[in-house]
Amino acid sequence: MPFKKKKRKEKSLSYELDMNLIPKHIAIIMDGNGRWAKERNLPRTMGHRAGIETIREIVKECSRLGVKYLTLYAFSTENWKRPTDEVNALMKLLVEYLKNEFDELHSNNVVINSIGDISRLPLICQKELENAYARTNTNSGLVLNLALNYGGRDDITHAFKKMYKDLKFGNLMENDICEDTISKYLYTAGIPDPDIIIRPSGEQRLSNFLLWQCAYSEFWVSNIKWPEFKKEHLHQAISDYQNRDRRFGGI
Ligand code: FPP
Repeated sequence: MPFKKKKRKEKSLSYELDMNLIPKHIAIIMDGNGRWAKERNLPRTMGHRAGIETIREIVKECSRLGVKYLTLYAFSTENWKRPTDEVNALMKLLVEYLKNEFDELHSNNVVINSIGDISRLPLICQKELENAYARTNTNSGLVLNLALNYGGRDDITHAFKKMYKDLKFGNLMENDICEDTISKYLYTAGIPDPDIIIRPSGEQRLSNFLLWQCAYSEFWVSNIKWPEFKKEHLHQAISDYQNRDRRFGGI
């Protein structure tokens, strides 16, 4: 079913959203799945499964609100340290998500994209991702950007290596190197920096997420764990964002 059309101004609980000031790029550190499961005496993987329901709701709402890019931190370069069972379960959930949600995402014009080195993911994940990119890359709606085997430091290291090769073979000149050039070598090339980074579950750190890109992002943290994060919390984050004074270092 198509997502509903947007109005100019919307009221959700007590959050009135200015539809002309919807952030272009929202990035989310989906945290708290494990604690959510523990509180219910469930295995951690059930927390991740519950987190998928939140992804569905938030993707739908971002799309409806006219957000252009939604980046979800789904698996970090450090998450390989988790027990093998949990890593395998996350990879399985990714494949399940892409298979089950593909038709609805595609029919709602969503572009499926990823950032990070996916060559380390199981082949089945790579295959589903490649298939999803190929089939949605001409869509014009929300870009759903899944951060998979992603780390901010790895992103910068990878960019350095690519730049070094281009410099060595004369495809890039030292004088051409500026901030914009560096941005173009990152996994997020072509995607504007996030306007707001949302972190549920009470932690107040970046955890190696979008380190270069977040220079002027607004942070929004909440104690709500990701499986309990609803569209009303997204509205609250957007409403707070709309009331902030972004000066980008000016006055
Ligand atoms: C952090 O919570 C969450 C993750 C590392 C994985 C997030 C993954 C999903 C929501 C599902 C799979 C993703 C896709 C795109 C299908 P945590 O486990 O660190 O929670 P805790 O801090 O409470 O232990």
